[in-house]
Amino acid sequence: MNVNNMSPLWAALRRDFAVPAAAFAATARAFQADVAAALAGDAGARALLPAYVANPGGGERGYCLALDMGGTNARALLVELLGGGTWRVRRQVACRLRDASRGYDYIAPATTPAALFDFLARLVGEVAPAGGTRLPLGFTFSYPCRQSGPAQAVLLQWNKEIEVPGVVGRDVGALLQAALDRAGVAARLRVIVNDTVATQLAGAYAAQDCRAGVIIGTGFNACYLEERSFPPPGRIINLEAGDFAGVAANRYDWQLDAASANPGGQRLEKMVAGRYVGELVRLAAADLARQGLIRHAAAWRQPYAITAADVGRILADTAPDLPGTAALLRRWGMADSTAAERAALRRLGALVAGRSARLVAAVLCGLVRCSDPALARRHVLAVDGALYRHLPGYAPRLSLLLRRATEESGGSVVLRLTPDGSGVGAAIAALLVE
Ligand code: GLC
Repeated sequence: MNVNNMSPLWAALRRDFAVPAAAFAATARAFQADVAAALAGDAGARALLPAYVANPGGGERGYCLALDMGGTNARALLVELLGGGTWRVRRQVACRLRDASRGYDYIAPATTPAALFDFLARLVGEVAPAGGTRLPLGFTFSYPCRQSGPAQAVLLQWNKEIEVPGVVGRDVGALLQAALDRAGVAARLRVIVNDTVATQLAGAYAAQDCRAGVIIGTGFNACYLEERSFPPPGRIINLEAGDFAGVAANRYDWQLDAASANPGGQRLEKMVAGRYVGELVRLAAADLARQGLIRHAAAWRQPYAITAADVGRILADTAPDLPGTAALLRRWGMADSTAAERAALRRLGALVAGRSARLVAAVLCGLVRCSDPALARRHVLAVDGALYRHLPGYAPRLSLLLRRATEESGGSVVLRLTPDGSGVGAAIAALLVE
């Protein structure tokens, strides 16, 4: 069995997942042009989705409820904004959207809108103070929505493999408020924001130099404060960056896309985000097995058998003989993996993670160039998301790539981790629109 790093198949794999300097620069330029075309209202340009908020001043105070529905978890929070850019989370509950061990799945095709929103309303009920006033509620909903007011948001499409029928085309604000009323929860929905927007708001609440938000989690997306196209103080625009289609896809990307719930959509997200990095590793591993470089394992035939957390475990496995990877391979049906097979898996994980970081860095360079074409200034981007936080080496690598990309122009792109941003930001937004 030839798992040799120098074999032609490995060379092809390295090419498949490479983002050479020219492709990096072209991606940054294409993303910048894509946003400019959309801002100019070009027919055929991707939709940009303005939020009904701009940056906070940092002095906002009060109690607020926040609900955060991401791609994997939902959380409800009772937040006290203290002014001075600080806050305290007074209560918090979090729940997975699907939990086979507890026998529920609120994101499967068999779920109804009422079941999903009743579940979300119950979470809010768990943190809302009993018997008191109806507190304002901010709702972070991490899917593309067209807004016609702060608390009106029509879902344009699901993504991240969520498939609840009957929600696309409807106002998720109305669905949530109806569920809150049904459950008798004392909360007034005041505002709906994307998770990137919420993260930016939390970043800007703490330090006013923050003018953009980024999520690198189950999905990938970014937003920024657009000050030229709107009257002061501007509006934060959700770019739906995961839907950017200007990056060349490799054979595994095409395979993944064709079998996904939304073929043709979210092309970039499917190359970089947490929902997909494990699946790309699985598809490449299956290919290695087909070509006889590693053996077959049951998991190679099972879509989404490898998760981003698994890729994280593989990348964290630095001990000789890779015992952590051996344990995963056992779980996946290969009881007696060889050192070479384990090394092959690790190399695949590194290729997929490395490409993700390079593409994200390129797109973020394109994003800051929208307001600073020469990349001559300092830009602070609030960032959150499980892939960014937990994939070994990912955050430092991204920072390094951004440093290298800007060192000649004299500017900089600084990523500021803003944990809890997608929850706390919704509370900040609720106070901003009060
Ligand atoms: C998907 C959604 C987007 C969200 C991102 C991160 O790309 O379309 O709205 O911000 O995931 O959660």
